[in-house]
Amino acid sequence: MTIPVIAIDGPSASGKGTVAARVALALGFHYLDSGAIYRVTAYAAQQRGVALDDEGALATLAAGLDLRFDGVEVWLNGVAVGDAIRTEEAGRAASQIAAKPQVRAALLDLQHAFRKAPGLVTDGRDMGSVVFPDATLKIFLTATATERANRRYKQLIEKGFGANLSALLQDLQERDARDAARAAAPLKKTADARLLETSSMGIDDAVNWVLEAYAAAL
Ligand code: DC
Repeated sequence: MTIPVIAIDGPSASGKGTVAARVALALGFHYLDSGAIYRVTAYAAQQRGVALDDEGALATLAAGLDLRFDGVEVWLNGVAVGDAIRTEEAGRAASQIAAKPQVRAALLDLQHAFRKAPGLVTDGRDMGSVVFPDATLKIFLTATATERANRRYKQLIEKGFGANLSALLQDLQERDARDAARAAAPLKKTADARLLETSSMGIDDAVNWVLEAYAAAL
């Protein structure tokens, strides 16, 4: 029997990570935050002095990363990276390297390895389109840019980071434009994905929506 996958894709700060983690918890499934993989790859590159536009060196680095995931914590070479990969700057660097096909290819096996029984819930940009095209349920989760900027603002303030709402909005829009315009695995809703628009929906309702859609898909 194939191991079920729920793939939740969508733009930055849409809340897809929170929803995906909650759905995984409710079902007792594993959870993969694929954005964290791109974030930690960019972080490792910066630490080792690899230029963010050197595709070959980035791909070699990506293929040899010593990563461990433990809940929301990511360990690189045995060291917890913590919130260093959660800043806007880290998101921008991740988006930059994520546009490179060789980097994406080098990170495929790592992502596939998360597909373990009893199932996987994963979020990102290409989980349903490229990484797990046979996912049991594919969702494109989004919200308006203004709502997403508000959510990211609250999240950053709660974490004790400084944040500026208009700068955040501009940043999100630039990042989404880059993620959607790239040739390799662009951010887009595929025909077989269900649209979940959450601008005026709370987290509990979004989680229940996904759980009901999954039950219906089985
Ligand atoms: O989901 P996130 O904001 O943590 O992702 C950070 C960046 O990584 C995002 O701007 C684009 C890239 N990314 C990607 O290209 N493919 C994925 N599956 C996940 C993230």
